[in-house]
This record gives sequence, C-alpha cells and structure tokens, in this order.
Amino acid sequence: MAANMMNTLLEKLHLTSADQGGAPAQEPSSEDLKELQEKYEKAKQGHVFAFYDSLDTEGRAALFDQLSSIDPGRINVLADKALNPPTPSPEEQQPSIEPLPSSACASLLDAAQEEKDGWYDAGLGHIAENKVAVVLMAGGQGTRLGSSDPKGCFDIGLPSHKSLFQMQAERIWKVQQLAKKHASTSTDPVVPWYVMTSGPTRGPTEKFFREHNYFGLSRENVVIFEQGVLPCISNEGKILMESKSRVAVAPDGNGGIYQALMLSEARSDMRKRGIEHVHAYCVDNCLVKVADPVFLGFASSKDVDIATKVVRKRAANESVGLIVQKNGKPDVVEYSEIDQSMAEATEGSSGLLKFRAANIVNHYYSFRFLESIEQWAYKLPHHVAKKKIPYLDTETGESVKPEKPNGVKLEQFVFDVFPFLPMSKFACLEVDRKEEFSPLKNGKGSTEDNADTSKRDVMEQGARWLRAAGAVVVSETDTAGVEVSPFISYGGEGLDYLNTREIKAPAVIERADSKDD
Ligand code: UD1
Repeated sequence: MAANMMNTLLEKLHLTSADQGGAPAQEPSSEDLKELQEKYEKAKQGHVFAFYDSLDTEGRAALFDQLSSIDPGRINVLADKALNPPTPSPEEQQPSIEPLPSSACASLLDAAQEEKDGWYDAGLGHIAENKVAVVLMAGGQGTRLGSSDPKGCFDIGLPSHKSLFQMQAERIWKVQQLAKKHASTSTDPVVPWYVMTSGPTRGPTEKFFREHNYFGLSRENVVIFEQGVLPCISNEGKILMESKSRVAVAPDGNGGIYQALMLSEARSDMRKRGIEHVHAYCVDNCLVKVADPVFLGFASSKDVDIATKVVRKRAANESVGLIVQKNGKPDVVEYSEIDQSMAEATEGSSGLLKFRAANIVNHYYSFRFLESIEQWAYKLPHHVAKKKIPYLDTETGESVKPEKPNGVKLEQFVFDVFPFLPMSKFACLEVDRKEEFSPLKNGKGSTEDNADTSKRDVMEQGARWLRAAGAVVVSETDTAGVEVSPFISYGGEGLDYLNTREIKAPAVIERADSKDD
C-alpha cells in the first residue's frame, strides 16, 4: 500500500504511525513535547502530563510515545458518544426485529445427510487446495474466569490435561490429514492459524506456544498477531492513568479483529498464500470445530461473504445474543434488547422459540470481504463496558483501587459488521449444541459454562462417538466419559476399529491402538 494511502487509512482509524513500531523510543525534543501537550490541553486531557517532569528519561520517552499514538480529540468523541448516547431515531427506537429469512438459514439438525455430506466434501476440497485459514480471537482478558494466564492455556481437567490451545491445534492437524486423504494427494495441505492476542495476552501466549513447540504444527503456519487498545475513560470522560508514565488501556474488543487483520501481517500473509475462505472463532469453546469442513462448504456453496453458526437457545430466558434480521439487515440483538413476549414467542405448532438462533461467535468470511476492511472498519460502533479500573489520581499521585465501577472501557464487537451486508451475502447455520458449543466463561463455584461443564461436555461427546461406532462404554458413574484425542477423530469419524470393544470410562483414546485407562 502506498505510504500516503496508509496514512489516510490510519487517520480514518484515528491511529498514527507511532502504532506501527519503528525506531526505539527517545526522550522528545522540547518542541515536540510542547506540540503534543497543546494537543491534549486543547482536548481538555492535559492531566496526562501531570507527572511528566518527575519522570526519568525512560519514563518520559515511554509516556510521550504512548500519548503520541492516541488522538485525544477522537477519544473525546468516542467517550462522549459512549457516556451520553445520542437519542435514537424512531427507526432505532422501535426496530423491526424478525428471525432471519429461511433463505439465509440451514440447520444440521434437520438437513438431509446428502446435503451435509456435500458441504463436508466441498470444505475438505477447499482445505486440500490450501484455500482455508483460521483466525482465533484470543485477545480477551478472561476476567470472569479469574485466571491470570490467557484463556487458551487453561487446562479444563481432561485426563490428558490438554489446554484449549492444544485441542484446537490438534484439530487443525487432523483436518489437514482428512483433507489430504479426501483429495488423495501426496502433499500435506496447510491451514494457517492466525492467533489474535492483545497487549496483556501476547507475551504469555507466544511463550506457551514456544514451550509446547507449536503443538506439533509448523512454526511458519502459526501467525500470532496483536489487536489494538483504547484508553480507559473515567465516568467524567477523562483519560485514566495507570501510573505516572502510562495511560490505562484495554483491548478494543473482539471487533478489533478487523483493524488488526488489516494492520498486522495477518491479512497480507493470507493474500500471499491465496486464501479464499476464513473461519474465525473464540478461544473459550472446548468443542469448537476449527476449520469445520461442513461450515466452510455450506458458506462457500452459498457464495456469501459472512456466515455464522448458531445453536438453539436453551430456554426463553437464556442470556445469549441472538442472530436476527433487524430493519431488514442481518444483526445481533442482545437478550436485554428484546422484551419477554418476544423472547417467549413460539413458532407455529412446533413449540420452538421464534427467536432461538443463539450467537456462538463462530464465523465464516470470504477473503474478498476481508479485502474490503478499509471501507467499513472505521464505521464500527464502540460499546461501553462499565468497569472497576485501577488508576493513578493525577491530583494526589496516589494509586486507587476502586470498589465500584469508576470508568468505562470502549469495545467494538465482532458481529457489528453484519448489518453492513445485504441479506443475500449472509447465511446462518444451526448446529447441534452438544457437538459444537460449550464455552469456558466462569471460574470455580459457578454453576455453568465453567471448567467442569467444559470437561463434562468433551467427555460425553467422546462416549457418544464411541457408542455410535459400536463400542460398549461402561462406567460406574453417570459422569464418566471418554476423551477422544483429535489425532484420532475430528468429529466422530474413524472410530470403527473400536466396534464391539468394551471401553471402561473414564478413558482416553489417544492413539489408534490405545486402550482404556
Ligand atoms: C460473546 C458474544 C455473545 C455470545 C457469547 C457466546 C461478543 C461481543 N459477544 O460474549 O454474543 O453469545 O460470546 O460465547 O462477541 N476477545 C478478544 N479481544 C477482546 C475481547 C474479547 O479477542 O478485546 C475474544 C475473547 O478472547 C473470546 C471472545 O472474544 O475468545 C469472546 O469474548 P467474551 O468477552 O468472552 O465474550 P462474551 O461476553 O462471552
């Protein structure tokens, strides 16, 4: 991209080239410092320099560098919109919300086997031709889980003690092998894995991957990149300082994926490799089918730009985002946005909830769509997350750990791009929750979506697969199950050799000749 084009783009995104790395930071000249200080004072954010004079050279350089990468005027605009949202237009106040049209939907729960097989074969074909990439969103800080490590390093307590990252890596390895067999080729297909991290998760994620030798994948096919951050804002709209030499910042939400793909090496690497289909997913789902051939085949056969997987909402009051048609466009509504009568409405005589398409953040993108990020990324809205944000009081110089929310983090959401598309370029695939979705959100002591439910769902899935292959799974407790290594099976296939075998649960099927424990 030409330098001036890149600068225009950065301007639109309210970044500066200081974000792009470059020469090591140096203490600024007094003119440069004055210019920057004036910019912040003009934006009524001059307090960020309160302790500048007391800092050593390194501290001054670091603060100057960080402040240069932020546009305080733009932050004011975002903060103002977030703290004093504009009155919605009549259309926004009473949007027309309907389920997606059936032309945009399909369901693995009732699709004919022939159709599912067709999608599977098409997806494996794309993988065999090296046209598929996966993007993992792993930039979240996982505060609800209460672990300081990135979520992907988490051991959910399986007999093998594999981390979420390892399970995902092994599924990538396996799907490559399935594609190789499908296409009867002698070369090994490659599904490159782009792992989006953030300031807080990048270092520990890179270390974990290195220590585990990239879980057996080739180093050159794993690209770890970083999403952006935004300053944290006080309830009064002031930029919060984390220390005397550092602004408090937080990752810009999973919607930061678009800007990060574009500004990092990730998208250009995809282009170089000739990628056409991209599967993006969240780190916390232990059942995720990474580079799922069925999903890839479904989306590519419909020639859409974005497709999304959903599961059936468990009950009317389940707190999940729903994929809908809002004012004629594909969209996601949060459960808080629909009233009880809508939440409870059922469809005809089936008794199924009318609005049941629960969002599991599992997306397909055509690469041609990701080539257009420049045209719309700057239009993505910012959402407000009210948080307790530790900060340095710039009046007293004291560090404060607030007891109640004292400020906001600004976040973009990955699905806010949906309404940019016409319905004809969007599709939705309903999948079986017990086969594909069990997220790790909460820590010990919680009742759902925690390590125990994740482990249970993986083990139960393994036992189901074995029984379907004709094995006899016996266990003394109801909760024991079988962990089937992704090296053996990606989605339940390839287990026929266990037909009639008795497996004593809990067990691990780690190798083709492995016995139960
Ligand atoms: C998300 C969805 C919600 C859905 C639910 C299902 C969004 C905004 N909301 O909610 O509609 O029903 O998952 O599990 O997507 N992440 C980043 N960078 C960030 C923040 C998050 O990469 O700055 C990643 C996380 O690492 C994680 C994923 O995004 O992989 C989801 O983030 P999380 O905060 O857990 O989303 P939820 O609030 O659970």
